[in-house]
Amino acid sequence: MSTGTLALIIFVAILAQVAIAALIGLYRRKQQYQDLASRMDELQGAAEPQPATSSAAVTVSSEAAGKAPPAWQGFKGFVVQRRVMEDTAESICSFYLVPVDGQPLPSFKPGQFLTFKLQITDPITCETKSIVRCYSLSDSPQPDYYRVTIKRVPPPANQQDIPPGCCSNYFHDHVQKGMQLSVKAPSGHFYLVEREPLPIVLVGGGIGITPMLSIINTLLNSGSSREIWLFYGVRNGTDHIMKRHLETLQQAHANFHLHICYSRPRETDKEGVDYQHRGHVDIKLLRLTLQLKRHQFYVCGPRAMMESLVPALETWGVATDDIYYESFGPATLPKHKRAKPQAGKPDAAEQAITVTFSKSGKSIVWNPDAESLLELAEDNGIEVDSGCRAGSCGSCQTALESGEVDYTQEPDADIEAGHCLLCISKPKSDLTLTA
Ligand SMILES: Cc1cc2nc3c(=O)[nH]c(=O)nc-3n(C[C@H](O)[C@H](O)[C@H](O)COP(=O)(O)OP(=O)(O)OC[C@H]3O[C@@H](n4cnc5c(N)ncnc54)[C@H](O)[C@@H]3O)c2cc1C
Ligand code: FES
Repeated sequence: MSTGTLALIIFVAILAQVAIAALIGLYRRKQQYQDLASRMDELQGAAEPQPATSSAAVTVSSEAAGKAPPAWQGFKGFVVQRRVMEDTAESICSFYLVPVDGQPLPSFKPGQFLTFKLQITDPITCETKSIVRCYSLSDSPQPDYYRVTIKRVPPPANQQDIPPGCCSNYFHDHVQKGMQLSVKAPSGHFYLVEREPLPIVLVGGGIGITPMLSIINTLLNSGSSREIWLFYGVRNGTDHIMKRHLETLQQAHANFHLHICYSRPRETDKEGVDYQHRGHVDIKLLRLTLQLKRHQFYVCGPRAMMESLVPALETWGVATDDIYYESFGPATLPKHKRAKPQAGKPDAAEQAITVTFSKSGKSIVWNPDAESLLELAEDNGIEVDSGCRAGSCGSCQTALESGEVDYTQEPDADIEAGHCLLCISKPKSDLTLTA
């Protein structure tokens, strides 16, 4: 054997050893993380179980806490006390709300949202429609006001002929100081879990920062010593809200670690000053920044971020129970955005499902192309209330007289027994709905 061949064999053997050692190291690291998580679960003993669920298609997870009744029933009057523009592009505005009846303001769990009902008149048809939308509370619970922070939603990119977001633009253009609004009590299952003082990691993408602000303000105002990591992803300084507020908190609290990520910084944005990381918040950044120990993760942001980050956290070894996440959409008419698939021949099982709307006296064969029962009802001229179209506001709750439904994502709204949320459900069998 020549010296060259021998050297090559030795080199390949060393390379193989290094690769095997690296793979073993990675495997051990994941095992350590999972062992640590289960040891801490054992120590926690019978403390409240808080399962968070997830799947590739599901974008909302919830804490399965006991159901507290809402602070008030239905909608209640609030007055806009003030408005504050939060970004340089003037596309994100905070609204401070006080109750019309002057009663003490019920508290809420940081991370929860308010549901608004607005009467909006179409400038072209002059028709007035009732629109329901949810907005997260963006400050800690205060005795005298609630705050929501709303981003003006433009038409979809390259579709400027489509009207911009109806409710968010109405807030920006018409909701002024002194105006009265109809508001449902704070609700939602995405909120700060306080049963154990684990370090927490908050990931807010774009306007998904709002529930994180409430969580941060609540923890730091209360003098909590929990380690708090905030990863806030925005395009650049134009969209970066509450910059000074967050920097002031960081200077005042050693347990608050601020990581701002700009995906497309402007020339004037200074790395290390205005932002810490160039790019999106991703699993690589979290792994490089966080210590190998158990954390609670809270994630809220655009769909793409949620769909990549949440599974990546699980792959990294984070226990599902330690991941909480919430999606802000969709609100308007997803059916208009999708190209309708070619009408194919439904299979036998699909043909068999009939949905009966008892009040309207209509029986309709389930259309497998329909996104949800809400869409089926709308397509067939059956009037059903709707708001968020994401299982959050409860507007589309409908009595189920017979049959069963499957949820396409976990409902966030509390559902009364014998009812279902049409916006996120599909029939599992023949159904009769009171609609
Ligand atoms: C739990 C929860 C909390 C939330 N918290 C916040 C928050 O804190 N801050 C915040 O800003 N938002 C928040 N949201 C999102 C908010 O509720 C609304 O979804 C958002 O403001 C958009 O509503 P809109 O009425 O302005 O837009 P929509 O009218 O619902 O329109 C949405 C998009 O669809 C497009 N569109 C309209 N009509 C059509 C059509 N015919 N065809 C195709 N496209 C169309 C619009 O141009 C727009 O781009 C939250 C949502 C949920 C569910
Ligand atoms: S429309 Fe909000 S829960 Fe269905």
